[in-house]
Amino acid sequence: MATSPDLARPGTSGRPNRPDQPLAVFDQSRKRIERASRFMPAGVSSNFRAGMLPHPLVFERASGPYLFDVDGNRLIDYYLGMGPMILGHDYAPVRRAVEAQLARGFLYGGQSGLEEEAAELFCAMVPCAEKLRFCGSGSEAVQAALRIARAATGRRIVLKFEGHYHGWFDSILVSVAPRADQAGERLHPASIPGSIGQDASAWGSVEVLAWNDLALLEARLAAGDVAAVIMEPAMCNAGAIFPKPGYLEGVRAACTKAGTVLIFDEVITGFRVAPGGAQQLFGVTPDLATFAKAVASGFPVAAVAGRAELLDVFTKGAVHGGTYNAQPVTMAATLASLRALHDGSAIAGIAQHGTRLMEGIAAELKAAGIVATVVGFPQIFHVAFGLDRPAQEWRDLLRMDRARYVRFCAELLKRRVRALERGAWFLSTTHDSLVIDETLAAVADAAREVA
Ligand SMILES: Cc1ncc(COP(=O)(O)O)c(C=O)c1O
Repeated sequence: MATSPDLARPGTSGRPNRPDQPLAVFDQSRKRIERASRFMPAGVSSNFRAGMLPHPLVFERASGPYLFDVDGNRLIDYYLGMGPMILGHDYAPVRRAVEAQLARGFLYGGQSGLEEEAAELFCAMVPCAEKLRFCGSGSEAVQAALRIARAATGRRIVLKFEGHYHGWFDSILVSVAPRADQAGERLHPASIPGSIGQDASAWGSVEVLAWNDLALLEARLAAGDVAAVIMEPAMCNAGAIFPKPGYLEGVRAACTKAGTVLIFDEVITGFRVAPGGAQQLFGVTPDLATFAKAVASGFPVAAVAGRAELLDVFTKGAVHGGTYNAQPVTMAATLASLRALHDGSAIAGIAQHGTRLMEGIAAELKAAGIVATVVGFPQIFHVAFGLDRPAQEWRDLLRMDRARYVRFCAELLKRRVRALERGAWFLSTTHDSLVIDETLAAVADAAREVA
């Protein structure tokens, strides 16, 4: 896909980073966060923005692969808004579609043609999607999927996997990142809530299993009392782990046999690793899947999609509401985003640069004597310090040297490259060869600094 002319190149988007440039400072951001903390806890509106080092940053604008902060720094961005900005910041066709809709009204409390068009294209792209419901966030879409599964099966129990994240709500924020001393036996993991203040009765019917172990899952499903199995089809949050060969196929067969609804949480992988998500890439179709992030280029859109008879529980007594769901401005962004992603060329383009970046990071870390794995898809991969071979499940990731990786990210940031402290790297269509060159130079310096 061609990069739109008003994006991405340093000449129009800000000065390029130079090797002789002094290290970046973030004093204005620090002062702004200190001030904002008087009105907002930690100065932010999501816990996942609070932990950044040296402190959360305050931005003035974004374009292509760059963020521009209040200290005047131009940062190469691998956060990409935690994933949504797969077409780069300020992707012109999305901006134009949004501007056009703004002139026609913000919220109708009724249907729009855009919503219908977006739903049709979505269903054409995603293998499991015979029908869908639009939602406002990935967390909400997961709740809708769980409700559908329980309504359709008349069962209560949901199986989830250690290390998999499905949003922050009480019913599912369980064993996302349990410590080794909390996690219990591998065969019988403890259910560890992710937050204080969580209502234990809300996750009382959620059982936790080790992922990537088919025999364990088959044995548990055999009782015939499980409403749903929910998983990231490839683990992308706490670390990157691929399903073992045959695992997803085995899960699919076991769920069908047990009458259990199989839910793929494709909030990260959807519209990113293939136009139809991980289910298309791996050739395994779930009953339901949840989507968000890449679907709308930064606008708050998510969806639960799947078999028509399951989605139709919303016409038979199951409830899903939301004042802002499918708000027309966000639907304009959704339609423009899906049109850019549906033929696969944008995703293939990212693969080329992402592969080079993955290989380059691995080589620079090795040259600096740092033991690490670089694993995942070229569109979203994970760097794990301290691991000498790819992890197979959450417990392998407990051996990561997180403290050193966080220092590495702090050094990268000083060199004007912004990567997520938890290890994930998101790429966009605007991360081209020059951006990758600049990134790898910063990676080499930062690696030497923390070696
Ligand atoms: C796999 C997965 N599921 C669900 C969510 C929750 O989505 P949201 O942050 O839009 O509520 C996330 C967010 O990162 C996610 O990665």
